[in-house]
Amino acid sequence: MSLPSLLIIGCGSIGERHLRCFQRTGRTSVTATDTLPITLARVGETYGVRTSDDWLGEIQSGRHTAAVICTPASSHVEIATQALAAGLHVLIEKPLSQSLAGIAELLAARERSGRQVALAYVYHTFPPLREARAFLAENKLGPVLQAVVTSGQPFHRLRPAYAKTYYRDRRTGGGAIQDALTHAANWIESVLGPTESVLCDCAHLALPDVEVEDTVSIAARHAHAHCHYSLNQFQAPNESYLQLNAAAGSIRIELHRQRWGTFTPGATDWEWRPAAPTVQDGHFTAQANAFIDQIEGRAAPLCSLEAGVQTLRFNLAALASAASGARVGCATVS
Ligand SMILES: NC(=O)c1ccc[n+]([C@@H]2O[C@H](COP(=O)([O-])OP(=O)(O)OC[C@H]3O[C@@H](n4cnc5c(N)ncnc54)[C@H](O)[C@@H]3O)[C@@H](O)[C@H]2O)c1
Repeated sequence: MSLPSLLIIGCGSIGERHLRCFQRTGRTSVTATDTLPITLARVGETYGVRTSDDWLGEIQSGRHTAAVICTPASSHVEIATQALAAGLHVLIEKPLSQSLAGIAELLAARERSGRQVALAYVYHTFPPLREARAFLAENKLGPVLQAVVTSGQPFHRLRPAYAKTYYRDRRTGGGAIQDALTHAANWIESVLGPTESVLCDCAHLALPDVEVEDTVSIAARHAHAHCHYSLNQFQAPNESYLQLNAAAGSIRIELHRQRWGTFTPGATDWEWRPAAPTVQDGHFTAQANAFIDQIEGRAAPLCSLEAGVQTLRFNLAALASAASGARVGCATVS
């Protein structure tokens, strides 16, 4: 039996990784599309896949079962809508978009097609986050009332070409809010429910050759909880802490140490649990397998289209709040 055919649209930094990881599942054949001939030549040679510079022609060819959209955010909605109209399932890189334009049409295209959609917010595959969220779902600590996310990394060392990519411009999904903080916001929303409003301050403080914000502080409100985010993209340590506080105890997740722990009333220290170790590319291979399970009808999406739309509203509310200095409701952004 032939494997379902998967189309990777955009084979830059993350597209190449998806290509490699979908290949690694052994459950799909892969075709690569990009607008840059040099990129197509590289991935064609490296991975032995068929390549094309015509994403629309490939979508409409009837050859493919699913598409993974790995272009800059400003083109995700158009490509996803076309792919659904042609009957493909779609996995869309984060953030869903950089505006709400076309979102209603995308939702309608998904309904008409009956196809599967997921957002590639990869935090949903991180073992410490999965295990901590499953523990919270047992409700041993009571409802989470407050969360604190503290994250930073030397982005210029991790992605030296950042100033030449979509990152340099908010209109293509750039800046710390849409590119980095959105991961944590999406995961926090999977635990606390949708963010209702945000008060955001942000600034460009350090990263050379760009003007977009690299430093962000957000006070977010959910229906029954507060969440504070503090993120920068210049500090030397690459560290991310997430702490969720409930009346009967707290959970702390240290992503950079691949561990999570609990601290309950009367304890004197954290009780740490090492999370399952992850091999290189492991998160993305897990995400690829989860998407194939979804299109085979065996699993729910790790991140639904609706959750992606909600986090897009979070991003836009944060940017609007930073511009106005006022608290902005996520449901009110337009
Ligand atoms: N999940 C993650 O950890 C993660 C990491 C990095 C980037 N991303 C997201 O993935 C997306 C892409 O980021 P990137 O870092 O790979 O960017 P990139 O600039 O490295 O690659 C984008 C690629 O898309 C190609 N492209 C642009 N328009 C196209 C079109 N219409 N058809 C075909 N190809 C087209 C470009 O030529 C380029 O090769 C962004 O939304 C970004 O936020 C996610």
